[in-house]
Amino acid sequence: ASSAAAHVEALLASYPDFPQPNILFRDLNPVFADAVAFRAIVDDLADQHRGQFDAVAGIEARGFLLAAAVGYAANAAVLAVRKGGKLPGTVLTEEYDLEYGSARLELEVGQLPAGTRVLILDDVLATGGTIAATSRLIERAGYTLTGVGVVLELTDLHGRERLGTAPVHAIMSI
Ligand code: PRP
Ligand code: MG
Repeated sequence: ASSAAAHVEALLASYPDFPQPNILFRDLNPVFADAVAFRAIVDDLADQHRGQFDAVAGIEARGFLLAAAVGYAANAAVLAVRKGGKLPGTVLTEEYDLEYGSARLELEVGQLPAGTRVLILDDVLATGGTIAATSRLIERAGYTLTGVGVVLELTDLHGRERLGTAPVHAIMSI
């Protein structure tokens, strides 16, 4: 395992029955709150996809923390994929299912040239609904999805199987 993975393994916190019964909530905030661990995960996400992207798309809310840092580290543009109703102007909308509930994600059109290579970043890959919806937004906006990076993949939910052919890198899988 990479040193980034070792940091995640050491710092990951788990909360049974949050935010509702039978959900085991995985909390990555202790990873973000450790300066050495945070740098390690940002560098790992940038390195795994190095040379493969011109922009990063961070998914509200926790994906924003990663996208800003990876975008800066890799000299890449940053796109904010937001929860429904937050963005002005012409937006694309995708509905998606969550492990608990459903929601909408949106992306403003026309921010970058068609064909821009985009790396999607989020904290956790669970059922894959969130990243699958974001993938559809990226493609509908005319961009090319070239990778997906997450800190943690919950393999028993098989989210990876819902995603397309772009390489998916998880720092840690459980
Ligand atoms: C969590 C997590 C991922 C998503 C993963 O976000 O941050 O974005 O769920 O679930 P999935 O693979 O089953 O779609 P959440 O929607 O709870 O919102 P937040 O990031 O704003 O806290
Ligand atoms: Mg999220």
